[in-house]
Amino acid sequence: MTSAPTHPVDDRDPTPVELANCDEATLLGMLDKMEQRHGFVPREISEEISRLVQLRLERIERIRGKLDSTIRRDVQTHVAHWSNEEGNLIMILHAIQNQHGYVPREVAMELSRELGVPLARIYEVITFYHYFKLQPPAKHNVVVCNGTACYLKGSLELLNELRSRLGISEGQTTADRHIHLDVVRCIGCCGMSPALVVDGKTYGRVKTSEVGGILDSVKKQEAKP
Ligand code: FES
Repeated sequence: MTSAPTHPVDDRDPTPVELANCDEATLLGMLDKMEQRHGFVPREISEEISRLVQLRLERIERIRGKLDSTIRRDVQTHVAHWSNEEGNLIMILHAIQNQHGYVPREVAMELSRELGVPLARIYEVITFYHYFKLQPPAKHNVVVCNGTACYLKGSLELLNELRSRLGISEGQTTADRHIHLDVVRCIGCCGMSPALVVDGKTYGRVKTSEVGGILDSVKKQEAKP
């Protein structure tokens, strides 16, 4: 006995059962094909897909609601912990950043509700202090020393090489959040200038031609099981 295909064949429209079994990418592909075949999406199919989309949205909303309750509980715990301390907003933000590695927007919004403090005020504090981050941290940090000794030994060339290889400027993170690039003033290893620090490991007397190899070693670490 042969079982019915769960996805439609190319030369006919899908049945409701087939539609219900499709993921979003497959649905999009089917809609493209139907538009090519008919010049439009047949009404009964469009109504069936709208019904399925509505169902899926409701499920996603329920999932989001459960995640929101986790955020709410975490924020309430931080607020309760620091409730009697002066300047507690900053202490709570520290706790949030320690927990997530940055201050996620939905957590800042929940904190604003919980404390009764305008969201704009919370962002004023976050952006005033350099310590607080609004984006998730990168997996790896590359820091170029641009103190006087390193500058005189060519730190700018190293920085330019990194900018061009990574496609970002200092203070930025690659789009895949793999590497964050920063510049600092003197890391206390002037005898080894020009110097770089990658994930806490210092590289001294670095030549521009070695930058590619250093970045490759970061990728290799990633590939290790
Ligand atoms: S200036 Fe770079 S280590 Fe001192």
